[in-house]
Amino acid sequence: MLKNAAIIKKLTLEQKAALMSGQGEWKSYAVNNQVPAMFLSDGPLGLRKQSGAGDHLGLNGSEPATCFPSSATLANSWNLEVVEDVGQALGKEAQALDVHQVLGPGLNIKRNPLGGRNFEYYSEDPYLAGKLAGRVIRGIQANGTIATPKHFAVNSQETRRMASNSVVDERTLREIYLTNFEIAIQEGNPKSIMTSYNEVNGTYTNESHHLLQDILRQEFGFDGYVVTDWGGDNDHIAGIKNGSNLVMPGLKQPGAREVIAAVQEGRLDEAVLDQRVDELLNVVLSSNATKKNDAIKVDWDHQHQVAYQAALKSIVLLKNEADVLPLTQETRVALIGDFAANPRYQGAGSSLVNTKNLETLKDTAQAHGVTLAGYAQGYKRVGQSDPALIAEAKDLAIKSDVVVLNVGLNEVSESEGMDRKDMTMPANQVELIQELSQLDQKLVVVLSAGSPVEMPWLDRVDAVVHGYLGGEAGAGAMWEVLTGAYNPSGRLAETYPMSYADVPFGEEFPAHRRNSYYKESLFVGYRYYDKAQKAVRFPFGFGLSYTSFTYDNLSVNDQGVEVKVTNSGQVAGTETVQLYIGKAETNILRPAKELKGFAQVSLAPGESQQVKISFDDKTFRYFDVSSDTWQVEAGTYQIMIGKNVNDIILTADYQVEGQEVMAVQDEVFAKYQACDLQSISQNDFENYFNLEFKQNTMVKGQNLGYNDTLAEMINAKSWIARAVAKWLKNAIAKSEAKGKPDLNLLFNYNMPFRAMGKMTGGLIDQDMVTAILRIVNGHFWSGSSRLIKGYFRNQKRNKADTWYEEDK
Ligand code: BGC
Repeated sequence: MLKNAAIIKKLTLEQKAALMSGQGEWKSYAVNNQVPAMFLSDGPLGLRKQSGAGDHLGLNGSEPATCFPSSATLANSWNLEVVEDVGQALGKEAQALDVHQVLGPGLNIKRNPLGGRNFEYYSEDPYLAGKLAGRVIRGIQANGTIATPKHFAVNSQETRRMASNSVVDERTLREIYLTNFEIAIQEGNPKSIMTSYNEVNGTYTNESHHLLQDILRQEFGFDGYVVTDWGGDNDHIAGIKNGSNLVMPGLKQPGAREVIAAVQEGRLDEAVLDQRVDELLNVVLSSNATKKNDAIKVDWDHQHQVAYQAALKSIVLLKNEADVLPLTQETRVALIGDFAANPRYQGAGSSLVNTKNLETLKDTAQAHGVTLAGYAQGYKRVGQSDPALIAEAKDLAIKSDVVVLNVGLNEVSESEGMDRKDMTMPANQVELIQELSQLDQKLVVVLSAGSPVEMPWLDRVDAVVHGYLGGEAGAGAMWEVLTGAYNPSGRLAETYPMSYADVPFGEEFPAHRRNSYYKESLFVGYRYYDKAQKAVRFPFGFGLSYTSFTYDNLSVNDQGVEVKVTNSGQVAGTETVQLYIGKAETNILRPAKELKGFAQVSLAPGESQQVKISFDDKTFRYFDVSSDTWQVEAGTYQIMIGKNVNDIILTADYQVEGQEVMAVQDEVFAKYQACDLQSISQNDFENYFNLEFKQNTMVKGQNLGYNDTLAEMINAKSWIARAVAKWLKNAIAKSEAKGKPDLNLLFNYNMPFRAMGKMTGGLIDQDMVTAILRIVNGHFWSGSSRLIKGYFRNQKRNKADTWYEEDK
């Protein structure tokens, strides 16, 4: 039964077809007097409302907005109220700027520390990511703005992002890459969701019946509408059939014509189209797009405060030898590092905010009671070490008591559109750390980076405080922590391996060919290091405080656990109690521990509190592939309460009823169960999980198809195509050398040919893409003539479609 049957009845087939894609870069399609257009904007970390002509990744600027801490930062707060406040502030700002739908939060699982967009995501753990995202969604939607959790799903790399097939076993899919979305949907009830660019096991997510129908709607109970990622549509009709409601940006007349033809030729049942229109209208017609918002004004100070609180609660103290921190008012501080004056506070790409009110460490020091001996730049953003800058930094350092050195990752290290090349920090910054560590002054390193870095220098410094990408108010928040005005309470939401060499199948990431094999299976992040007993630099859940906490009296019942936590130190502080579950005696593959709950408690010195963490439907479950259902393995479980995954303080055994599972005798099973991932071969993986997918070839002179990337033109038959690919590659390298990634170039480089027809607002139709491919594949003359004819034919048809309502 359609909820909007009355309206849908009045819509023509053309109108319904047009509704299935946008009316421009950022608007959904409007039908005069019946369906308003919704304005959609990035993003997850602050609004990116393009004021002039929209151009996806932003040659044209966006309106000034509050820049909140990035999701990777927020996740370190483990604080659901704080993230909900950020969501609310974001939703409010959206409403005031007439944005009806916010394209975020991003909650993909951080599979590998080099993932280019890790700064935009929460965690390597699905429970934590899901809980946080759920609350952000709730916040965004509190005043009627629509949230769009993204990118559904298994979207782990930027390289070839629109032409990459994530090959993953079903259990890992469910337990790692979908549980985050499941929790976020259950807790946040988002009105929309964005599909990812990639395929999962050979099917584009946007046309996957399994993902969109069986799982998203049936199992998770999602009742919003599904939007593609920008240009992520592959087969428009297959998308509609399988549950995708809106292709963005607009495919315009050619897209609508495809739908009309499919209905007329019987390839698409009109009832299915009506269903998709209905799902979309349910959201559009109850959205803020139906209201006028003139009266709403942004209180920028309030927004800044929200960003500040969030940054404050997210800062993680990683090292504090001999209590060098907190700084006292008498301490003379040498502030060193380019980031201290020109902060690295947000990532790059579609999440980039035109920041309204940016603080710097240099400008805010005084207001936070810090006595500065001076500031020195220390290093340049890109390029080699500069001896003069190092000398200047050292001169300043020796005039101080403590050096506060702000280092981390620069802009080219973390961006949408590219993955990181390694886990190191820029060499000129590392050299500066070394130089300064040889002086007598205490050395406090303040890190600014949205993802893990190697820290071979850790032993040489006295303290490390990680601010991640703290947003516009991150600097002031950092001083509050450095001076002890706020006792740090952040905990890492991801593991810091010793070095990249420790990352399982690290040498295969990112996949440069179509198939990306998720050979580590369930053993992502701490699930690997913990079980394989591999030493890490900082474990998942880690973070220090200026006080100490003790735990005792663990009790367990069928509702959950209870533990007494005491602040045994001298100052007030906040502790994050973490609940991990394990099952040593098991007949299924299992990590040693999995996070299944957490709670935060703020305590005065000497104060104690009983902390309760409830069990839920996820606590003991696993996905049983043979029955395609969630099950519980019967037996004894270990209930573990810890300060982080490697520091379990209290453990109790607990009996759980469930299914008896037969023991498995299998060599590959045994390798996985021993977490001996190095010994898992390609064949082991493919055969054990029954996942065989043909890998694409990359040979000179090959024919390219719709779903090959422009980068692959390097092997094309046509010399023109090869020259274009070379030019693109060089242009990208040049922009990187300058220190600023060029997002549009990166987008094009990783883009498949089909997307030319999806990203050009009706200018290029699929027939013209075929013509372009002919040129690329060495048929210059026939391809060119088809392209020219195609261009005029498409223009003529577009003009003839007078029913199409252009954006006004
Ligand atoms: C990104 C999305 C973003 C969209 C619109 C895409 O390139 O993957 O996360 O929301 O662009 O800017």
